[in-house]
Amino acid sequence: MEVNEAIEKRRSIRKFIDKEVDEKLIKKIINSARLAPSAKNRQPWLFKITTKEEKDKIANLMIEYDKNNPSTSSSISYTANAIKQASELIIVLYEKDDFWKEYDLLSIGAAIENMLLEAESLALSTLWIGDTKYINKEICKELGINKYDIISAVAVGYKNQDPKPRPRKTMDEILI
Ligand SMILES: Cc1cc2nc3c(=O)[nH]c(=O)nc-3n(C[C@H](O)[C@H](O)[C@H](O)COP(=O)(O)O)c2cc1C
Repeated sequence: MEVNEAIEKRRSIRKFIDKEVDEKLIKKIINSARLAPSAKNRQPWLFKITTKEEKDKIANLMIEYDKNNPSTSSSISYTANAIKQASELIIVLYEKDDFWKEYDLLSIGAAIENMLLEAESLALSTLWIGDTKYINKEICKELGINKYDIISAVAVGYKNQDPKPRPRKTMDEILI
């Protein structure tokens, strides 16, 4: 698949079929993250492939948080349900460095986009997840990774929906 095809076809997927993704494919996705550009070539990223138990526990913690905090964004449980359905959940971690933080976060974003595009080229689907932020501390505790910050998570699986592209600003709107 050409890169531009992967860019155009990729969608955030929130419904997955019950089919496991081969570990080799997950490693390919993480390998593409590894190859992303990074400021000063710091490669400030770390990845944790969760077990099914850890994945479901994280989703349940999110649902519990949503129930206890009804005034926060209602999409948390929606995201949690996507996590439950997905075959895999990869947590993207950062060993905090206050001086480099801005550059490092940009670099990690590039790595995550590589992951999404690699997955697309492997006929897999993904959801880039920020909603873990509400329970990052609990997740770190659950996974025993207190040394790191959770930047995002990526759910990976085989899709069970074909969403239309979400609206995008036109070229005229973004060119100044
Ligand atoms: C940093 C970041 C965090 C996101 N967090 C979530 C999330 O927690 N839950 C969710 O359902 N979608 C999440 N998304 C997906 C966006 O909602 C989605 O990319 C956007 O609506 C455009 O849709 P598309 O990805 O299908 O093109 C996130 C995307 C990014 C880049």
